[in-house]
Amino acid sequence: MERHLSTAKGGNIGAYLANFTFAEKADLFTRSAKTVVERLSIGNYNVSRFTNEFWTAMQRQASSIHEVSYRACFKPQLPRFFIKLLSEENDFIYDPFGGRGTTVIEAGLLGRRVVVNDVNPLSRILIEPRFFAPTVKEIVDRLSQIVFYDGLNSDIDLSMFYHSKTESEIMSLRKYFAERSAGGKEDNIDRWVRMVATNRLTGHSPGFFSVYTLPPNQAVTQESQIKINAKRGQKPEYRDVSRIILSKSESLLKNVTEEQRRNLRKAGESAQFLNCDARYTTDIPSGSVRGTVTSPPFLNIVQYSKDNWLRCWFNSIDDKEVSKKITMSKTVEEWSAVMEDVFVELFRVTKTGGFVAFEVGEVKKGSVRLDEHVVPLGVKGGFECVGIIVNLQEFTKTSNIWGVDNNDGGTNTNRIVLFVKR
Ligand SMILES: C[S@@+](CC[C@H](N)C(=O)[O-])C[C@H]1O[C@@H](n2cnc3c(N)ncnc32)[C@H](O)[C@@H]1O
Repeated sequence: MERHLSTAKGGNIGAYLANFTFAEKADLFTRSAKTVVERLSIGNYNVSRFTNEFWTAMQRQASSIHEVSYRACFKPQLPRFFIKLLSEENDFIYDPFGGRGTTVIEAGLLGRRVVVNDVNPLSRILIEPRFFAPTVKEIVDRLSQIVFYDGLNSDIDLSMFYHSKTESEIMSLRKYFAERSAGGKEDNIDRWVRMVATNRLTGHSPGFFSVYTLPPNQAVTQESQIKINAKRGQKPEYRDVSRIILSKSESLLKNVTEEQRRNLRKAGESAQFLNCDARYTTDIPSGSVRGTVTSPPFLNIVQYSKDNWLRCWFNSIDDKEVSKKITMSKTVEEWSAVMEDVFVELFRVTKTGGFVAFEVGEVKKGSVRLDEHVVPLGVKGGFECVGIIVNLQEFTKTSNIWGVDNNDGGTNTNRIVLFVKR
């Protein structure tokens, strides 16, 4: 049974986390574990660290509509845990570093309203259409209206990724979108097709438009793809763009219920989509957000604009311009200076009684503890720190064998610093 505790109802979050018991029925036995609570001193602050398997095991299956690939995205169960615990229906849930939109899509599915921001305009292209998901029939009809020409070539050399006929079909889509948007005719079905096509550009199976390459959230350079082709002795085969778009659409929509569609649409109709630096989101009214669940860029580890160059090209976004705006910090000090300002802005937009769940993962195999750097930044911004939440997958196994403290190199570990505005 999923539990619910709301600060609005006067719940004590620290006590809830400390008393949380993880339990999972396996074939022959039940795995269970109590939260490990430690007290840490970080500078002048004393904070609790709560370690358990809070959401990975008891999770319900996530909605298929999340399955849009993106670098360093988190699992939907993470935002779901905080949204259900700390907010009510119709509350506004925000993500200042939106990415593929895991937080706000989950919030929409749960009947919350949403605000989302990302400095890369690609993010909105990946998020917005899922609030207004068309039916499969509407997608079939729309695809049948798009003219797929022969012999269209791209302005850049893409022959290492695509068969010439596939390339011509991709160019036909670009032409179609350009005409629809110039004529002010681009609608929700077009935006859905654009999102799915953007996702299918490159990948490592015949379910993508390209020859075998890295997984879809990491587009390699043209030069690297030439090397991959030579090493594997491969050349691009024809892929039916329209058929792939339809098949991925069916898969995205496979377990979306009518109620979820209604919730998403309602959230989409009042949604704010911003394309700013997370420090300067002046369009969000002060005190309007119940809760934020977010994961910022971690130092300079993930190259968001390079990984997305082909997706940006497809959508006529200048990835070089975007890369200038993305926060890429070489040192923890530089990173902290940016995040300090982000917290000031988060404090402004958050309601009294609202929360911020700030996820920083495991950086450099746990050798850089960004979570501990985040605590004073949030407190300086005005928040009260509830504690650090460490979610270990297979907690019982890992903690029994290694002890909780030795799990720095563990995979699937999320570290979240939770703050409230009193
Ligand atoms: C770790 S990803 C977020 C992934 C997201 N949680 C998801 O599940 O899809 C960080 C995001 O921050 C964006 N970003 C980087 N610097 C930013 C800034 N200064 N302001 C706003 N967004 C920024 C990147 O474009 C990237 O999409």
